[in-house]
Amino acid sequence: MAKDFSTMEDSNRSSNPSIHEVSDPQRRQVLRGGLGLTLTGLLAPLAGCASLGAASGPLLGFKAVPIGTTDTVVVPEGYSVQVIAAWGEPVGLSGEDTAFRFDASNTAAQQETQLGMHHDGIHFYKHPLPGTPASAGLLVMNHEYADDGLLHSDGMKTWNAAKVRKAQAAHGVSVIEVEQKNGRYAIVTPSPWARRITATTPMAFGGPAAGNALLRTAADPQGRRPLGTLNNCGSGITPWGTYLTCEENFMGYFRGPETIDPHHARWGLRRGEPAGYRWAEHDERFDVAKHPNEPNRFGWVVEIDPYNPSSTPVKRTALGRAAHEGATTALTKTRRAVIYMGEDARFEYIYKFVSRDSVKPGGFAANSELLDHGTLFVARFDADGKGRWLPLVHGQGPLTAANGFADQGEVLVKSRQASDLLGATKMDRAEWTEVDQQGWVYVTLTNNSNRGQANQPAADAANPRANNTMGHILRWKDDGDFDGVTLQWNHFVLAGDATTERAEAKGNVKGDAFGAPDGLWVDTRGVLWIQTDMSTSAMGRGDYAKLGNNAMLAADVRTGEIRRFLVGPKGCEITGATSTPDGRVMFINIQHPGESPSERSDPDNPRRVSNWPDQRPDGRPRSATVVIRKNDGGVIGT
Ligand code: FEO
Ligand code: CA
Ligand code: CA
Repeated sequence: MAKDFSTMEDSNRSSNPSIHEVSDPQRRQVLRGGLGLTLTGLLAPLAGCASLGAASGPLLGFKAVPIGTTDTVVVPEGYSVQVIAAWGEPVGLSGEDTAFRFDASNTAAQQETQLGMHHDGIHFYKHPLPGTPASAGLLVMNHEYADDGLLHSDGMKTWNAAKVRKAQAAHGVSVIEVEQKNGRYAIVTPSPWARRITATTPMAFGGPAAGNALLRTAADPQGRRPLGTLNNCGSGITPWGTYLTCEENFMGYFRGPETIDPHHARWGLRRGEPAGYRWAEHDERFDVAKHPNEPNRFGWVVEIDPYNPSSTPVKRTALGRAAHEGATTALTKTRRAVIYMGEDARFEYIYKFVSRDSVKPGGFAANSELLDHGTLFVARFDADGKGRWLPLVHGQGPLTAANGFADQGEVLVKSRQASDLLGATKMDRAEWTEVDQQGWVYVTLTNNSNRGQANQPAADAANPRANNTMGHILRWKDDGDFDGVTLQWNHFVLAGDATTERAEAKGNVKGDAFGAPDGLWVDTRGVLWIQTDMSTSAMGRGDYAKLGNNAMLAADVRTGEIRRFLVGPKGCEITGATSTPDGRVMFINIQHPGESPSERSDPDNPRRVSNWPDQRPDGRPRSATVVIRKNDGGVIGT
């Protein structure tokens, strides 16, 4: 049940052995277009999951690393790290290999061919060509947001359309081909699979809300062709070989009108220019007064076929609209896809989608509409350790026209309002979800300092701490199978630091202290990896005073032991994790090294907090992927 489906699926082997040698761009386009057609395959039986290896001995074999505050990545003795794929490196589009300029003077057009900023969710897909070493493959990763103080040579001192375009190009998703040479990883350039998806890439809507009146705009009167993806935070994979990228805090990009309607207000739109991005000044798509439905076109889970660079990404509306952190797929015994999703916003919800149909053999081609039909549920966690999945189905219960939901599309666009009416449980910022080999579903509740404050929800059974600075990890099992409508839940851990003074920040960690859990990943042996994201405005202070930089820890889900494996450089968060199928090479992302408490760097002093990873006197900190290996070639974590 560990869900590294890439090892279960042989659907992505192209029969074209010479694609690497194809350098003529025109011919490559043909191959690109035809690539998807050559992909045939078989979905391995679910029993194949067992071969991933439910370990019997001790799961954690490494020596813990201490809390740290240095400007490096620290891993246990016997491990090594290599940095690849930093912001600004060319992804490998043919003929488009402009190098990163350390003064941030690359143009918007160049940024469209380079890795974006602020790496987040990531997954390693095995190489499309048969006979390629298992260490080679495609890395697909999110670029959550941009720090305009670092992105442009003079930051935001001047502001113009070219800067907006560059910022939009620094968002989205990258697909890169990677290979190992002489023990080091490198991006293959050019690569026929290289791709950048940005905040302006043409996309499609699928599912019940496609074409809905709430999704129609002047530029897209049919409501079926959105542009771009934003704030791509966590990610997920499907058993048919696609990538799910999740749109998180999209509302921060929109300038609000003088009067905010109740719907947009419920989703956090505020009057005037948002604090961060200033896109509406040069791209009126982000001015809600002019384009009132544009925010409805964000907040979706977007499905991308990494093996077909000419494919159109699809926003899957059946999965509902939310400030989506991530999307994790499990398969029922009848091979229906169940997707668990957290919403990272204070007092919002946890969802699951259950597909109507079973996953078919044949890769994405056979399952291209699987995520368009099914039922969305929202979670209620009751005080007795039980819970229930409440269906978001038009016409059922309060979800009627009389209550403001004209049809199922409107229920999905307004899933928060629907969940309010259903009485779902308001959570402490649900981040990533993961499923372990025993069928437990884990969710990180990263923190919520508003819990229990005046005029805010009080602590409850599932979110038990007021002023929850440290966060917790809750887990549940759905009754019967993953599509069960009832569940049993408990707390896997309340994060904290046993040595801190405030009683409610001590937590109950069996092992190494941590706060603000965010990224989660279950590896092929069943180890639960936990990544932290203490915000830079709070890092090193208050309850976080003794926790140092953000970190990654490994948990033995059978014993509850949690051991610190990695500490990141200054001002970063750790996010996204994946590995080669043999578990011997791990890839994680270091996001926003050097971030200042304001989350906007000073262009006159870009190295003030960090200069990772380049440490050049003329450089600037860059998000990047870290390759982790055991020096003896063993499996990571053993
Ligand atoms: Fe983008 Fe919730 O972290
Ligand atoms: Ca996150
Ligand atoms: Ca976070």
